[in-house]
Amino acid sequence: MADQIFFGAAPYVLLTIAVVGLFWRFSTNRYSWSTQSSQFLENRTLFFGSFPWHYGIITILVGHFIAFLIPSLVFAWNGAPARLYLLELVGLALGFLALFGLLALIYRRITNARVKTMTSSWDVLILIILIIQVVTGLGNAIFYRWGSNWYAAAAVPWMWSILKFNPNVDFVRNLPLNTKIHIFNAMIFIGFIPFSRLVHFVVINPYKYLVRPYQVVRWYHRNPKTENIVQYK
Ligand code: HEM
Repeated sequence: MADQIFFGAAPYVLLTIAVVGLFWRFSTNRYSWSTQSSQFLENRTLFFGSFPWHYGIITILVGHFIAFLIPSLVFAWNGAPARLYLLELVGLALGFLALFGLLALIYRRITNARVKTMTSSWDVLILIILIIQVVTGLGNAIFYRWGSNWYAAAAVPWMWSILKFNPNVDFVRNLPLNTKIHIFNAMIFIGFIPFSRLVHFVVINPYKYLVRPYQVVRWYHRNPKTENIVQYK
């Protein structure tokens, strides 16, 4: 019964929230489709956190997505043990890279007074969701081998069953609790996209962002909290 609720019904609720929320945000506040930059408040730790976080997590998500689109590719690749180990090792390394970056970003938000002032409850919530996602993802990879294989064999057919409006929770029923938390938390993540700074995820080309030349970033709207902040030199 719980599986039916969490993996049969909840995905539709959260997907609806995401789609309706995106329309709502676009129609009411379309100029806020960015992650309000805090770069001029503090740059050094941002650099050490943001780069590993984005490169790690985006590459992992691209991996999740390719396996979602072409699961047979994963089976073919993993057919030779050496290739399976390579894939799992690269995934693990990227997972730790993302974790390192995320911890640096959290540290920065906790320790830098000016960034802390600008941190909303939404930001805190998003950081909690992200840390759960990365830690449980690493848990999948470390404790339940070989994740890439059973991702393609169980999780991918479940996701397709959701998208085809014919949810089949049997695919995920027997997965370990850690993995169930990973999957459910991913849905929460998707549901939160329109309401938080995560919305920048939908509109930018992250790789372009990471290699673009420096530019001056200004906040578009006035925020009473920032009126007294002196520009960082
Ligand atoms: C917001 C979306 C998601 C994020 C940010 C995310 C993040 C991660 C991270 C950081 C890892 C560890 C990297 C690795 O070692 O491969 C991982 C692994 C994994 N994730 Fe996710 N994930 C997301 C969505 C999902 C979904 C929706 C599923 C399943 C339906 C899933 C299933 C898995 C599995 C099975 C692994 C282990 C892969 C392996 O051992 O090779 N993830 N994820």
